[in-house]
Amino acid sequence: MIINNETIVKDDDPRIRLKSEKVAVPLTDEDDTILKTMLTYVRDSIDPIKSKEQNLRPSVGISAVQIGILKQLVAISIDYGEDGKKEYLLANPRIVSHSAQNAYLKSGEGCLSVDQEHVGYVVRHARIKVKAYDALAKKEVLIHADGYEAIVLQHEIDHLSGRLFYDHINKEDPWKEDPDAVVIE
Ligand code: NI
Repeated sequence: MIINNETIVKDDDPRIRLKSEKVAVPLTDEDDTILKTMLTYVRDSIDPIKSKEQNLRPSVGISAVQIGILKQLVAISIDYGEDGKKEYLLANPRIVSHSAQNAYLKSGEGCLSVDQEHVGYVVRHARIKVKAYDALAKKEVLIHADGYEAIVLQHEIDHLSGRLFYDHINKEDPWKEDPDAVVIE
């Protein structure tokens, strides 16, 4: 299975709006392989040499629907440099609770499936709790996330129900400030 910027399902493809199905846990070998291939993509995508050689677009996460597989599988790899990496390999992730407070990235969001720029704040929950099967830990987990990590998790979980980041941008006023929200640099 090859994943690169040519094979990624883009937002002009109706499949990107479809809902993904739950998978059986523990994972089948097939689903485990899909997840690991997705994680390799995300890790390699920020490697300057590999990303150029293999036509990868830098990313921090990917969902299976983006490679044309309608299963609830998500791979995330956030590189904090000296502070290490935060990685998740999740099956059936779902948000079980969230803060009333919102948050958004100061510079907006992008997506492997979206080639055009969509400017504006992508308003999300500041803090979330996510239940999922974690293929790295090989068990059900409850993730408490805030900050950038919470944004990335919500972006990827959105893909599983066919939502894209620009669905959350205020159409009349894309840069409308929310004075109570956490603005993430
Ligand atoms: Ni995306």
